[in-house]
Amino acid sequence: MKRFHVTTFGCQMNEHDSERMKGMLTSLGYEEVERREQADLILFNTCSIRENADNRFISHLGEAKRLKGEDPARVVGVGGCWAQSVKEEVFRRFPFVDVAFGPGQIHRLAEFLNSDSITAQGYFEFEEFAGDLPANRARPFQGWLQISQGCNCVCTYCIVPSTRGREQSRDPSLLVEEVERLAADGVREVTLLGQNVNSYGRDLPSASRIRFSDLLRRIDSVEGIERIRYTSPHPKDMREDVIEAHAELPALCEHIHLPLQSGSSTILKKMRRTYDRERYLDRVAMIRERIPDCGLTTDIIVGFPGETDRDFRQTLEVVDRVGYDGAFTFGYSPRRGTAAADMDGQVPHPVKKERMAELVDLVQERARERAQRFVGRSMEVLVEGPSRSDPTRLRGRSRHNKAVNFEGAAEPGKLVEVEIEAATSQTLSGNERLLSGIGA
Ligand code: SAH
Ligand code: SF4
Ligand code: F3S
Repeated sequence: MKRFHVTTFGCQMNEHDSERMKGMLTSLGYEEVERREQADLILFNTCSIRENADNRFISHLGEAKRLKGEDPARVVGVGGCWAQSVKEEVFRRFPFVDVAFGPGQIHRLAEFLNSDSITAQGYFEFEEFAGDLPANRARPFQGWLQISQGCNCVCTYCIVPSTRGREQSRDPSLLVEEVERLAADGVREVTLLGQNVNSYGRDLPSASRIRFSDLLRRIDSVEGIERIRYTSPHPKDMREDVIEAHAELPALCEHIHLPLQSGSSTILKKMRRTYDRERYLDRVAMIRERIPDCGLTTDIIVGFPGETDRDFRQTLEVVDRVGYDGAFTFGYSPRRGTAAADMDGQVPHPVKKERMAELVDLVQERARERAQRFVGRSMEVLVEGPSRSDPTRLRGRSRHNKAVNFEGAAEPGKLVEVEIEAATSQTLSGNERLLSGIGA
């Protein structure tokens, strides 16, 4: 039996692609191994969103080169966004790579493995998403659903439109069928994936065209699906119908990840985000009004070209005003082929670092304050397994997407009630509530 090893970098889409890659390889008779040196087929699913993503991957590739040197029969494959962004150049820079393919093109890997080809192959055409591949899910009770691929936005810092192509929504009936299959297979929580999930449907033929909120409704009615999440929505497309869906649909979780990127309208314009600070705050106000307890998280870039101290203060001000439950913060990283990479006013590294530290402090302070609202409450938690820091305790997530560490005995995949006793900026902790008659 042939053995494979996959290393995944990047976002949830890559995680999903890797699960499908593993599913496909299993169905071809391969077996997954834990360590790279045990594998006949060494795969990397790559990301290119920031420079450090590239660097991390390239340092791993060095080990693959050494292993290939030891046993030239080994196959080395590189998929995902980095591969797509360099295309055939991958074979010139790294001659030991046998096969390279763009994001989502996992079926091409099978084609390569089934062929007698001994020369290196690259597959970089943008194609339809192959939704029929089986997936080896990391957790049997959680599943991904890629509702669209690609992105039609033109954010000036972002490499994704060039690595994932134009936006293509998948057919709603196919998506509902996929969720039904997932539910039948034990999935209780499904996460909808797209670069801009709430523009879903606009490119569909009129006969099947539905809005993102309609899709949420259809998925909510699938028996067995207890939780629905999605990532990421774009603030420009965050309309009332989606917010309304949160208030109405029982399975749709009280959490919205709404990427801000910057709190300065000047910078947002240079980023070509197509919303300004007021519009963003207006969306937040609407969310707070309709779903008062909703968890809100965001992505923020510091040190975008031309960002002045005043622009940065405006970002801090929005963070303070919104009070996020958490935020991913990134130092701006110039990406090949993007408009911002050539803009004037690139911000020096030490300035980025200083701003980042200040931002992170504020994010954490506000998140810690926000989290106190959960203390004393009983919250529904989907059990994921033992806690990372203390394996005698359990870990799971609340509907607000907060990590919860707790005393309890439930199996992974179960929904339990946890009495929350303490909260930090990152995690909640408490005790599983025993149902009356069972507990002491
Ligand atoms: N489609 C998603 C984002 C995908 S990338 C969205 O629009 O929300 C995830 C995050 O990486 C972005 O939200 C942004 O904050 C960050 N990012 C993207 N390109 C970047 C770059 N060149 N430098 C720093 N951060 C970047
Ligand atoms: Fe990139 Fe903007 Fe598209 Fe998100 S919406 S993937 S940040 S271009
Ligand atoms: Fe990275 Fe591509 Fe996702 S660049 S963040 S793997 S869309």
